[in-house]
Amino acid sequence: MPTQTSDVRRDRFAQGKPVWARAIATPATEFGPIALHLISGQIPADLKGTLYRNGPGRLSRQGQRVDHWFDGDGGILAVRFDQDKTTACYRYVQTPEFQLEEEQDQFLHSGYGQLAPGPIWRRWGVPPKNVANTSVLALPDKLLALWEGGQPHALDLITLETQGPDLLSGLSPKLTYSAHPKQDPQTGNIYNFGVIFGAKTHLQLYRSHPSGKIEQQAAIPLPGLSMVHDFALAGRYLVFVVPPLRLQMLPMLLGTQSLSDALQWQPHHGTQIIVVDREALKEVTRFDTDPWFQWHFGNGYENTSGEIVLDYIRYPDFQTNQWLQEVVTGHPQTPASGTLWQLRINPQTGQVLSNDQRFALGCEFPVISPMETGQRAEAIYVTHQSTDRPTEEMFDCIARIEGDAKTSTSMEFSQGCYPMEAIYAPHPTRDNQGWLITVVFDGNQDQSTVQIFSAQQLEAGPIAVLALPEVIPFGFHGTWQSAG
Ligand SMILES: [Fe+2]
Repeated sequence: MPTQTSDVRRDRFAQGKPVWARAIATPATEFGPIALHLISGQIPADLKGTLYRNGPGRLSRQGQRVDHWFDGDGGILAVRFDQDKTTACYRYVQTPEFQLEEEQDQFLHSGYGQLAPGPIWRRWGVPPKNVANTSVLALPDKLLALWEGGQPHALDLITLETQGPDLLSGLSPKLTYSAHPKQDPQTGNIYNFGVIFGAKTHLQLYRSHPSGKIEQQAAIPLPGLSMVHDFALAGRYLVFVVPPLRLQMLPMLLGTQSLSDALQWQPHHGTQIIVVDREALKEVTRFDTDPWFQWHFGNGYENTSGEIVLDYIRYPDFQTNQWLQEVVTGHPQTPASGTLWQLRINPQTGQVLSNDQRFALGCEFPVISPMETGQRAEAIYVTHQSTDRPTEEMFDCIARIEGDAKTSTSMEFSQGCYPMEAIYAPHPTRDNQGWLITVVFDGNQDQSTVQIFSAQQLEAGPIAVLALPEVIPFGFHGTWQSAG
């Protein structure tokens, strides 16, 4: 049970703020493994496996809050659906930097959006803290906690005990491994990349065996010091969309600006699209188009005409970064809303064939069934805002958007209830069927729940709701690992 002190702190932080701020008012508390209480419904008999989620669990120390949501220390939630019971476990990722800050109970490191305390010269040449807070990759024998500015950390799949940094038999200390790997559902091969800044700023591409072992690497030059957060696997291709951001290296190296503050929006560069052959890891084409920014792709595929089709969440500029920075205050004020778009390109001629909005409400966290990665998906799911929500509000709905169409159905949560990214758990035997699992913060009860929906009948409401023993702060991404 939460202590009285944490309740008081939560009340104090959330005063005058939207209800969701209660979820990030105090650091997450570790727990478990512990059996979960079923509040309502029934857990589907065929749902067997584990949901893993990652996100910034600790946003403050001794009353000092981090400067950007991306700088919170990674905390992992595992919810295991077993034969006769459901258990959950929550643990912080024990990176060396986190352990040092735990010992001294103060923030000591620079991060994506914050600077280490003390004189400037102490920041020179010191890499940022690996917060291990963005996503997870579930391998057969370990879970990787991912953060795009560094290397993965391996955790025990059951206990979530941190085993240490993991180089996947192929990373050198200067290489990074991003937080949005893509696994081909047919071969099990895993594709990913890292952005490597330097004299020759480039994308380092990786193809791994299903075990995670890196078997192939290649370097693809970038048009400038930009940021690439995600990419798409689309049929025979990997597609990278490079936004017109440029990093001002000098102030960052001098320690006067954080990486976040040193990223400048320079729309005159346009967005650059780079298409790579996924077998050879060689560039096929690259071309420039209109400026926009995206964090995430929903999916990519090659249609019957050999065109590449990509779904992504499009922002007109980089104001989204400011909104994300302000989240830690519990009261974001900068308008920044992304919507779902579909881009169609010709990989041979390097032409944009179409680029249209598919879903007009502010949304994020596009997901599909992992059985459809790189192929045409039955549906895409997004977490979104109900109509006319103010800038300070979090997402309160999940939508299913059919195939390539604009038709959608939505599940709207009760007032004061906020879902995180929905994770698709495929049915073990029935094609094109599965469940969506999300973690919901109920601000009215100060409680987090696990909610399970039929992915095909989202609007019917949850099939089952389970109570978590502690509040889980809003996180970023997760995955599903089927049992057996
Ligand atoms: Fe992401």
